[in-house]
Amino acid sequence: MSKLIITDHPLIQHKITLMRKTDTSSMQFRQLATEVATLMGYEVTRTLQTREIEVETPMEKTTGVEISGKKVVLVPILRAGLGMVDGFSQLMPGARVGHIGLYRDPETLKPVEYYCKMPGELKNRQVILLDPMLATGGSLTDAATLLKERGADHIQAVCLIGAPEGVEAFQKAHPDIDLYLGHLDRQLNDHGYILPGLGDAGDRLFGTK
Ligand code: PRP
Ligand code: URA
Repeated sequence: MSKLIITDHPLIQHKITLMRKTDTSSMQFRQLATEVATLMGYEVTRTLQTREIEVETPMEKTTGVEISGKKVVLVPILRAGLGMVDGFSQLMPGARVGHIGLYRDPETLKPVEYYCKMPGELKNRQVILLDPMLATGGSLTDAATLLKERGADHIQAVCLIGAPEGVEAFQKAHPDIDLYLGHLDRQLNDHGYILPGLGDAGDRLFGTK
């Protein structure tokens, strides 16, 4: 079974609380999303492989550490996942970025794919899938399936807020993928929105309705 990791650092909780507030502007919301993503990125990248290297300081030769192993590919789910890219890119400026376009049909709540562009081969890459909201789990589940169809064999999934229903659905469909959440919320409402949640993440990020 995949791991569920709740990254409940006090700064993450504080910033997610600000994101929830109705009177937080789009500008503030975007900034907070970047900050939370950066803080979560610190936990998500904890498992990256490293190797020892020799370096020369102005004082003497010593042994340091550098990141080695699989190259990282960030994959935001459009649109709202875009709000998490800057935070992760600040930690890993060399990471490539693929995009998956999915929107949730408001009637059926099922995800509809409209775009997919990956930076070449995904096999042997460390793929970090980004979406702020895990509600029914349909979007994240389909996105992970799409990545696997394109060869991805090492995936981590990162969401700012998740509902128990979405966590269960995702873990059932992808028991091999570790899931990182900033907060596990209470439940979904009848329209598939997370409670207490923060509303529609895409609309709040981009000032749409
Ligand atoms: C939101 C969110 C997730 C999805 C979560 O996207 O960013 O992708 O809903 O819901 P689910 O777990 O029930 O699939 P939305 O469809 O609103 O598209 P947007 O990002 O373009 O606003
Ligand atoms: N998508 C969102 O943006 N928010 C929710 O609460 C559910 C799905």
